[in-house]
Amino acid sequence: MISRLEQLRSEALGNLQAIGDAVKLESWRVNYLGKKSELTGILRSLSSLEVEERKITGAMANRLRAELESELNKKRSALEEAQLASTAEEADIDITLPGRPMPRGRLHPINQTIYEVCDIFGSMGFQVKEGPDVEWNYYNFEALNIPDEHPARDVMSTSWVDAAPDSTMGPMLLRTHTTSVTARMIESNDPPIRVVEPGKVYRYEATDATHTPMFHQIDGLAIDTGITMADLKGTLYEFARRFFGEGRGVRFRCDYFPFVEPGVEMAIECLVCNGRGCRLCSNTGWIEILGAGMVHPRVLERGAIDPDTYSGFAFGMGIDRLPMLRYGIDDIRLFYNNDLRFLSQF
Ligand code: DAH
Repeated sequence: MISRLEQLRSEALGNLQAIGDAVKLESWRVNYLGKKSELTGILRSLSSLEVEERKITGAMANRLRAELESELNKKRSALEEAQLASTAEEADIDITLPGRPMPRGRLHPINQTIYEVCDIFGSMGFQVKEGPDVEWNYYNFEALNIPDEHPARDVMSTSWVDAAPDSTMGPMLLRTHTTSVTARMIESNDPPIRVVEPGKVYRYEATDATHTPMFHQIDGLAIDTGITMADLKGTLYEFARRFFGEGRGVRFRCDYFPFVEPGVEMAIECLVCNGRGCRLCSNTGWIEILGAGMVHPRVLERGAIDPDTYSGFAFGMGIDRLPMLRYGIDDIRLFYNNDLRFLSQF
């Protein structure tokens, strides 16, 4: 039996070598590994052998079957490869030619920036929320402690929407800042709240190198028990470090916004002159990038959050300026002309 297995092995392997197509390979398989093959027969008859012989013959027959199967698979792959190559040759395809480049889509640099900023705040536990571009007067101004006669309404050059005003929400407008989403978040959530709110904002302004009637902002809000100015500074320092890089100077100064008290503005050391003074920073060495502050108690109250129990900080910044600063782009209109020669650089 053992010598028969050896014979079978050399016969099978020898025949396999000579095979050059899939049909012959299949009949080889049937012949040597099929149900009616001699090897299968031997394996089936093992049980009728004496224990000692069964051990030796069984091991050998099984090894042979494994070997033939693996050789069969090798041969199959080799034949397939040869087949592919000859098809390519017949069709006159030169498979060594480099591929044709496929133009790939990409995100607009403004969107890339929004994603990057959201990622940074996301890693600090902030959720990303969006609100409507067409907004009620209430959320854009009223809820943010900006009453009708407040000068901030003029500063913001509002575009009003020609639609019937609502008796409590007032007239409709194109939101002038994403702080409107902050007003909505305060109204519709219970603390703890941690959100960032990116989106488009609109101001009725003539277009020039630094102004467009539509641009982008991101606001942020954190409300909980015991939130202080230290949390505001720590969070925004960390953002500046991650976005602008380690070692860039950051400065906070007092500022006024009706919806925060106290209010601050944050500036970073000028990216062009590193603080020495140049045209970009009007010789101050600093570039303002955001407004922030502790949420005004009246704003919390309007959203039914008790200012005696909770406190929070808020911030808002322009998005478009971030890639302008980072890449030294001096005309905001480049982002909106959608010239692919410009956009494909990012
Ligand atoms: N909404 C302000 C603007 O557009 C920026 C701002 C300042 C947002 C302070 C805030 C904040 O959330 O706390 O000029």
